[in-house]
Amino acid sequence: MTDRIIMICPLCGRKLEKTHQSFCCKKRHSFDIARQGYINLLPVQNKHSLSPGDTRAMLEARRRFLDKGFYEPVCDDIAEKIRQHCNVPSPVTADIGSGEGYYTSLLKNKCNAQCIGFDIAKEASKMSCQRDRDIIWAVATASHIPLQDSSADAVTAVFSLFVNDEYARILKDGGIVVEVTAGSDHLTELKHIIYDEVFVQNKQPSPFGDQFVLLSQEDKSFRIGLDNEDLKDLLLMTPHSHRISREKSERLEKTDRLDITVNYIIRVLQKKEKRG
Ligand SMILES: C[S@@+](CC[C@H](N)C(=O)[O-])C[C@H]1O[C@@H](n2cnc3c(N)ncnc32)[C@H](O)[C@@H]1O
Repeated sequence: MTDRIIMICPLCGRKLEKTHQSFCCKKRHSFDIARQGYINLLPVQNKHSLSPGDTRAMLEARRRFLDKGFYEPVCDDIAEKIRQHCNVPSPVTADIGSGEGYYTSLLKNKCNAQCIGFDIAKEASKMSCQRDRDIIWAVATASHIPLQDSSADAVTAVFSLFVNDEYARILKDGGIVVEVTAGSDHLTELKHIIYDEVFVQNKQPSPFGDQFVLLSQEDKSFRIGLDNEDLKDLLLMTPHSHRISREKSERLEKTDRLDITVNYIIRVLQKKEKRG
């Protein structure tokens, strides 16, 4: 179910038409659909490293962890916001920094949404195809999203990025951004294992521009009980894994069980209607 999604060429901005094996624009720029089912819409000039974004190991750890349902309350919360604010039967929803596709694929079902998952990591799009081949999975950067202006009902950004002007460009007037960011106490017990000192920062989402109005912002928490395998996956899927010392790594290895705080900020921004 992707008939209302209007993709554009990352090279010239013209509309892309889907053929059997590729997406093609009027200027004959053509993008093959990979064997796994994703398309690569990230031109080299928008690529700032050889393999940008999360690594395969991070993505695999995230998949193992998320598939156990630990973050499903977060997903339910996002779904609730989309149902509440998008007054269309199947909202076109762009998930930016969609990772291995957990939230995108669940949101498709929970909101009857027409979803597109964008991630800068090729491996992320590749893995996402295993979740749902009816979703368009594209390698793309959040700063040049290959979607037509004013074509999306909702943008979701879950522990990823907030790109004000680009989200405003792709959203219809009245469309919403549902953004989830880490709160100040997020994973605090894990941080106490990893670091000698944990500084509590007052975490807030990024400022937003005058194209948007804030509909809601809530700081929410719940606790999850994790065994050693889950803890190691949780560490691997975060940037903390690059910072852990050998000593702390051994400490984590000896931790059989730990209750962890999941603390997130969920905010809903609405694109203002144009006047006149
Ligand atoms: C912390 S992960 C969150 C993934 C997913 N939303 C989730 O919560 O499971 C952030 C994701 O953003 C992607 N990413 C990083 N920079 C990006 C960019 N400039 N454009 C698009 N995706 C990006 C990474 O590859 C990674 O998959």
